[in-house]
Amino acid sequence: MQLYKYTALAACFIFSSFGGQALAKTISVASPNGQVVVNVDDDASNPSYTVIFNNEEVISRSALGMAFKNAHALGEGFTIASSKKSSSDSTWEQPWGERQLVRDNHTELQVDFNHASHNPSRFTVRFRVFDDGVGFRYEVPKQKGLKGLIEITNEYTEFNIQNSSNVTAWWIPARGWNRYEYVYNTSALNEIDRVHTPFTFKLASGTHVSIHEAALVDYAGMALDQRREGMLKADLAPWSDGVLVKKEGAFNSPWRTIQIASNAVGLLNSDLILNLNEPNKLGDVSWVEPAKYVGIWWGMHITENTWGSGPKHGATTANTKYFMDFAAKYGFAGVLVEGWNIGWDGDWYSNGDVFSFTKPYDDFDIAELAAYGKEKGVRIIGHHETSGSVTNYKNQMADAFDLYQKHNVAQVKTGYVADGGRIKRVDENGIVRYEWHDGQFMSREYLRSVTEAAKRKISINTHEPIKDTGLRRTYPNWIAREGARGQEFNAWGSPPNPPEHTTILPFTRMLSGPMDFTPGIFDLSFNGLEGENRPRTTLAKQLALYVVIYSPIQMAADLPRNYEANLKPFQFILDVTTDWQESIALAGEVGEFVTIARKAKDSDDWFLGTLTDENKRNVHVDLSFLDAGKKYEAQIYRDGNDANWQTKPYDIIIENKVVTSSDSLTLPLATSGGAAIRFKILSN
Ligand code: NOJ
Ligand code: CA
Repeated sequence: MQLYKYTALAACFIFSSFGGQALAKTISVASPNGQVVVNVDDDASNPSYTVIFNNEEVISRSALGMAFKNAHALGEGFTIASSKKSSSDSTWEQPWGERQLVRDNHTELQVDFNHASHNPSRFTVRFRVFDDGVGFRYEVPKQKGLKGLIEITNEYTEFNIQNSSNVTAWWIPARGWNRYEYVYNTSALNEIDRVHTPFTFKLASGTHVSIHEAALVDYAGMALDQRREGMLKADLAPWSDGVLVKKEGAFNSPWRTIQIASNAVGLLNSDLILNLNEPNKLGDVSWVEPAKYVGIWWGMHITENTWGSGPKHGATTANTKYFMDFAAKYGFAGVLVEGWNIGWDGDWYSNGDVFSFTKPYDDFDIAELAAYGKEKGVRIIGHHETSGSVTNYKNQMADAFDLYQKHNVAQVKTGYVADGGRIKRVDENGIVRYEWHDGQFMSREYLRSVTEAAKRKISINTHEPIKDTGLRRTYPNWIAREGARGQEFNAWGSPPNPPEHTTILPFTRMLSGPMDFTPGIFDLSFNGLEGENRPRTTLAKQLALYVVIYSPIQMAADLPRNYEANLKPFQFILDVTTDWQESIALAGEVGEFVTIARKAKDSDDWFLGTLTDENKRNVHVDLSFLDAGKKYEAQIYRDGNDANWQTKPYDIIIENKVVTSSDSLTLPLATSGGAAIRFKILSN
């Protein structure tokens, strides 16, 4: 069922209106190579848009507009007053990322709507149309009828999808207690209710689409609510008072994005989200350091240690030195230390108000450790768990970052463990309010931590974050986030991550940006092989994650003793880099398997990661991505012949082969298995 009857394109009057003269019914704009087309129209005074990919209607006619608390809505009654087209083709450089150079090639269409009789009377929708999708945003100028505090109470944006019972979707629920940390569902699109973005689906034709947003700054995060079959409506996370977004003066919405590709990996090879973000606002960011790290972390998750004080306290001076020695020996840049500060004793989930971010426990000597680390060339990686009490954090934030800066800390992991809708803030009048992690209030708080940190040359890795929308381009010290189920769920999650989890993540969560998944668990049977909680993968798949799940910071998450007992596979973690000159998703199907190759930035080596769901399979890899005319030693870490995640996860084969770009490899992957390869350059 559709809200509007589909109007055949041929039946519309299409005017390309320049300079605001002609009154247009439908305005059409195509991507640089013509394969993506957007039609914007105001039929019956209802602003709407349609998206077509290779002649297939991907988004059928869908409403545009928004409503306010004390003002007329933008939408019904508005017609197109003028429009303007332009095109742009440029290349920009990332300080770090999946690729060094990013091409931004798009056509832009600005459509100005107006209302003949009431105020507010004007708004603009700006479309950017790329060969791999579309972004559009609302631009609302300062005007009569919108004075003082502007309160958005509804966003009308729709994404109408035809034939939704034949469309397969991969999704996690929105507005749930566990934020973004859910097992992914696979279902027909018409079975979903309210979902988070990136929301990825596959049309019956095989076209893959993902709806998300870009540049979410000082705005509420957008979920999608299926109001009628196939009709997904923007659903913004509200403030505690029910208002969705509060603004003053002229404002823009984030970009609503629709990535489109003819196959699954096409979505991965897109830079659309980054291209729709503003350039770097921090200036020289050479102090942002992609790197690998270890930490006092997994021990707590498997209950060998505690965050709080006592005989099992993990963050002691002695234990931190032990980790620093290990890091120095193997070349890790940092040691994450969780549980170093006062506030963890008792039920830390509910202790947000008593966390101190400047007072260490008695058995943790931060100054001594900073000096020890300096000698060894290893930094402490800081940790601020707020348990969602953001006012308590805000009040201490400047001092907290000052302390870390003084002790040579260049990276801080933050945490916001609190149920969805239970972020605690104290308002201007001293009244306690509870907010969503993805509401406008929190979009400000997360960014506050990032900009405060930047002043001290500190980078931020946010756990329990608001979803990523490409803001690392604007704030390159926002190096990673969690924002999905990571490795920790394998320690205590019920259920732990299923084998298919990491075959869905690349096509969903990872479209938004880097994830601190924390791969590399080598002791896969800390509860016995039959234990419910353990990584449901083979050892080789743990290695593949370093290439597949992109992050400029990668943790070697297991305990040092488990690496020292397995030095041969550990070598891959030591060799793999975290900053790339180029990345290519070579093959994959959502929820089945994925193969990704990346070229290192600090050498001419290539790396490859491939992994599968619960089904074993042979993955064929054509090596034509390697630099032509060069010889490489392929150092292959793959599942052994008897490997399977349940009973033989450790069965791994490590072998070397000399290869060139004209070779190919067939990699047998076990059930929930994988392969990781370093292509070490032999000749230049
Ligand atoms: C949740 C984070 O995801 C995890 O990595 C961390 O150890 C705990 N919170 C404690 O802060
Ligand atoms: Ca978490």
